[in-house]
Amino acid sequence: MKVTGIVGSPRAAGVTTALVEKALQGARETGAETVLFNIQEAGIGGCMACYTCKDTGVCRQDDGMSQIYDALRSSSAVVIGTPVYMFTVTGQTKTFIDRLFPFLKPDFTSRLGSLPTLMIYTQGAPKPDAFAVAFDSIEKALSMLGLDTRRRMVAAGMSGEDLEGQGSLAGEALAAGRDLVSNSC
Ligand SMILES: Cc1cc2nc3c(=O)[nH]c(=O)nc-3n(C[C@H](O)[C@H](O)[C@H](O)COP(=O)(O)O)c2cc1C
Repeated sequence: MKVTGIVGSPRAAGVTTALVEKALQGARETGAETVLFNIQEAGIGGCMACYTCKDTGVCRQDDGMSQIYDALRSSSAVVIGTPVYMFTVTGQTKTFIDRLFPFLKPDFTSRLGSLPTLMIYTQGAPKPDAFAVAFDSIEKALSMLGLDTRRRMVAAGMSGEDLEGQGSLAGEALAAGRDLVSNSC
């Protein structure tokens, strides 16, 4: 099976990337093939609201999202990592979510079906539930689009540059990636 990882942090060497990479490592250890995209690096424009995709299921824009559409269509599970920016996900992550519109059929079911999804949030605030309302809302939208959150991991109090000294977080992400595959087979 294949697992697609999506990073919504502009910092390719940041904590969010490191945790998503750990989760994908866990997925590989359980036999999955993995692929990782960084939204910022992929070059993804905002949804143009042309509604072409409603009939065709295909986005008219030809940009970094094309590869991600292909990856998602051939995946059995997904890992999405995003920092919290201004009380919600980053602009990069929101742009990615908007661009999942082609997967939404006119009857509001998903062309993707329901892919098990691991959500990883990183934030400076020390309380893991500080932005739970925003996370609930994001996951509701993702669920409608075909990405069904099976587990939410929140890395709180992330003011450092990398994962060093961040306790058990790497192990937690590794285990979550393993579980994602084990429970999706
Ligand atoms: C523009 C900006 C806005 C942020 N807003 C929040 C916020 O609202 N709440 C919070 O807890 N942390 C906030 N942070 C901190 C990041 O969420 C945190 O440092 C995160 O771990 C960064 O992930 P990265 O290492 O992948 O870049 C913000 C950081 C930036 C750069």
